[in-house]
Amino acid sequence: MNFYIMTLFPEMIEQGAKNSILGRAIDNGIISLEAVNIRDYTEDKHRKVDDYPYGGGAGMLMQAQPVYDCWRAVEEKIKEKRGSKAGAKTRVIYLTPQGKTFHQEMAGELAKEEDIIFLCGHYEGIDERALEEIVTDYVSIGDYVLTGGELPALVMIDAVARLAPGVLHNEDSAGEETFYNDLLEYPQYSRPEQWHGKKVPEVLLSGNHKKIREWRLEQSEIKTQRWRPDLYEKYALRKKLMEKLVKKNKALYADMSESLGRGRGELIYGGEDGAVVWDKKADVYMLSSFDKASAEKIVDQIPERIKDGQFILHEEWLLPPMERRFPVKEKMMCQRAVYNRDVSLPRSGEIEILQLDISWLPVISAHYHLGSEGYVEERLLSGAIFGAFIEGKLAGFIGEHIEGSLGMLEVFEEYRRKGIAAELESYMINLHLSRGHLPYGDVIVGNEASMKLQRKLGLKVSKEIYCWAIVPSDAAL
Ligand code: ADE
Repeated sequence: MNFYIMTLFPEMIEQGAKNSILGRAIDNGIISLEAVNIRDYTEDKHRKVDDYPYGGGAGMLMQAQPVYDCWRAVEEKIKEKRGSKAGAKTRVIYLTPQGKTFHQEMAGELAKEEDIIFLCGHYEGIDERALEEIVTDYVSIGDYVLTGGELPALVMIDAVARLAPGVLHNEDSAGEETFYNDLLEYPQYSRPEQWHGKKVPEVLLSGNHKKIREWRLEQSEIKTQRWRPDLYEKYALRKKLMEKLVKKNKALYADMSESLGRGRGELIYGGEDGAVVWDKKADVYMLSSFDKASAEKIVDQIPERIKDGQFILHEEWLLPPMERRFPVKEKMMCQRAVYNRDVSLPRSGEIEILQLDISWLPVISAHYHLGSEGYVEERLLSGAIFGAFIEGKLAGFIGEHIEGSLGMLEVFEEYRRKGIAAELESYMINLHLSRGHLPYGDVIVGNEASMKLQRKLGLKVSKEIYCWAIVPSDAAL
């Protein structure tokens, strides 16, 4: 992920980004940041970049020419770097108090971009004609006026960069915090146990992780209800639907309830007749229609702007209305495997299981065929793929898919029938349990080897069959 900042004060950006997590991510090459001085592009012999506004008024305005030429140079550089991959125009974000207010969801959306250009204004703003030609997004960081766009650009870069795969090392740490799941963060305590006569809550010293999770959730709920009732209302709606899905069919709807529960699912529709959840991170729409009569209505909840993508259809009667609306090109029929217990699975001490880093990309890509190399790369950078090692050699791997299910399991030919698959899956199940997640996976109908493994490990396989429907992005509508 590369940030380009067009500014009159490049040192301000460089100083602001060189420390802490952002600085480390830059040093490690996970993100790059380049502050480009707009003044270097002025044609004025005195290096002037501003002038009086026509029609009068207070202050000076940044002129169109240096801003435009600076942008051209940055855009050119990005095109050159991308080479044949050059696609849509790079997003250009103009920081202004008149823009759309920045929030966590916008940060998540921007984190998917490979390159972002920020344009920092000064004085009374920038000549409108330059803005019209180059800006794609007008963004404010809040209803107050600052002296320039550099601090807002740094705020946005910090919020976006920390969501990019690999920046925080642990995929989960970007998850369980304020705004995750529309809940404010629970209170935290460190040593000493007693300070100013105040004791750390007993439950946090108990070592009982389940109880600790429950306590934290309860504290988050209380805090949110008190300080942010607007957020709490959204959270409560989602919670109600989750409970309903679990009650109806815990295995079949595990993807929807986990997506909502892990704070990545947005409730597009939730009613007596069904639900539509959009998993923001995976960009997958999950649909369920509790009765056949409402199938058409449920499919109609998918927003008009969606032209392609991946959809999970939980009931067979969703397929005909789906195919009427979208040119579905691929269908994968699955059954859901769920680990319902909360006790960890035993592990043999002989097989070492380690998180795989990006250096394993060629090996994993060569063996995993249900996703692109880009997908494997994203999963490795997110720390979501784990390998089994025997005598120091990689014998197989397993991963967590982007929407949260367990999968990508592969044991290399020469290591099969040694119980490695069971070891890898047990490891992942235990990891999910330790994070408070429900371990679940999609088993392709007819994959008897996988079915056997799921049953052996004590997972419950749903009898219902659901469908992954894929509408390719180049499908003509
Ligand atoms: N420039 C000046 N004030 C700003 C704000 N609040 N947000 C974004 N850019 C700004």
